[in-house]
Amino acid sequence: MPSALPDGEPVPVDGSLPDQAYEHMADRSLSLYIHVPFCTTRCGYCDFNTYTAGELGTSSSPESWLDAALAEINLAATVLAVSGVHRPVETVFVGGGTPSLLGGRTLVTLLRAVDDAIGLAPGAEVTTEANPESTDPDLLAAIRDGGYTRVSIGMQSIVPHVLQVLDRRHTPGRALEAAAWARQAGLEHVSLDLIYGTPGESDDDFRASLDAAISAGVDHISAYSLIVEPGTQLARRVAKGELAAPDDDVLAKRYLIADDVASVAGLSWYEVSNWAAREEARCRHNLAYWTGGDWWGIGPGAHSHVGGVRWWNRKHPAAYAAALAAGHAPGQGREILDAATRLEERILLELRLSSGLDLALLSDRGRAQAQAEAADGLLDPAALAAGRAVVTRRGRLLADGIALRLID
Ligand SMILES: C[S@@+](CC[C@H](N)C(=O)[O-])C[C@H]1O[C@@H](n2cnc3c(N)ncnc32)[C@H](O)[C@@H]1O
Ligand code: SF4
Repeated sequence: MPSALPDGEPVPVDGSLPDQAYEHMADRSLSLYIHVPFCTTRCGYCDFNTYTAGELGTSSSPESWLDAALAEINLAATVLAVSGVHRPVETVFVGGGTPSLLGGRTLVTLLRAVDDAIGLAPGAEVTTEANPESTDPDLLAAIRDGGYTRVSIGMQSIVPHVLQVLDRRHTPGRALEAAAWARQAGLEHVSLDLIYGTPGESDDDFRASLDAAISAGVDHISAYSLIVEPGTQLARRVAKGELAAPDDDVLAKRYLIADDVASVAGLSWYEVSNWAAREEARCRHNLAYWTGGDWWGIGPGAHSHVGGVRWWNRKHPAAYAAALAAGHAPGQGREILDAATRLEERILLELRLSSGLDLALLSDRGRAQAQAEAADGLLDPAALAAGRAVVTRRGRLLADGIALRLID
């Protein structure tokens, strides 16, 4: 089951935000995340807030979720309008769970609702995640015609025994087929997600997955090291000794393999786990998260962040829908981030980007530490001389640790 959310302070029933959230709003971009909490089966490694039909029973359905999500989109429009500043939505990301289970028509209904209630910016990036087995040419054509510009497909691996340990139900080739259909449908950007470090995976298995992903002609790849999340089936199997936990040295080697294969194919890293063929192929939505944009998260358990105010929704789809059906905001708790916490988060996130971090954000001690990290080969000396902390290839393997040492 998905893990629990923190408590925080209560969210007002009308969803109103403190004044702080509205300060300098015109200077920040607005993004929307829409969380679809449904999957056909649960993969053994996954602790995302998602449910199978059997887990939900009669308590919730895609229909009740859609009514609630549409109500929350209208609530977001009302709350944001209080500022008097109109910002159209620059990026929309429908994630999950399995958004492709909704079908093309519902995905387009959601996007129209966002456009009607808040307005989409010209040239907005609109992404949906898609699982290989619930994606077909009709769905892709429908979302393309309905205004989606990008699809992100969960491939994970091309190797049958790796897919089996991950509990993935699709055939090895299905993700590649889905990527080809997405390109044929005319989606501007297509991304494939890979996982490395699965028990039993070899370097060559991972290389084969990367080669297959690249050969599908996609312009974006994400590669994540397998995290053994507490409470998952994978964690139970590791605890019983049935599967070996991923080894740090193996994970580091696999990361470098990913970077080698992507670079040779012309994809460059722009965030530690993400590679793109061109600047326009970078995921603008994720970049907005990483560079301090505002975002509103629609859906059960979704997190939002507006001007230093962070809140999170009720986690279970039934509790989420019940709040909105009663005319209440679905937020379960919120926190107002102080300046020190915002700075720490900014350092942690920006250090993971190829654009790096402005040294002016660091204290004298932090800047001295940055020099020491460069001497250790973890920060780029030329970038440092130009006023930015940019991790080297070896530094990318240790980015979070470096960031913690730069923070006071
Ligand atoms: C939110 S999931 C949704 C994607 C889609 N449902 C699918 O599975 O195809 C997005 C991505 O997170 C990654 N992911 C999920 N759980 C993970 C874990 N425990 N360790 C590493 N990556 C994980 C997978 O690569 C997955 O494609
Ligand atoms: S299909 Fe995706 S979201 Fe659903 S359980 Fe598997 S990894 Fe998690």
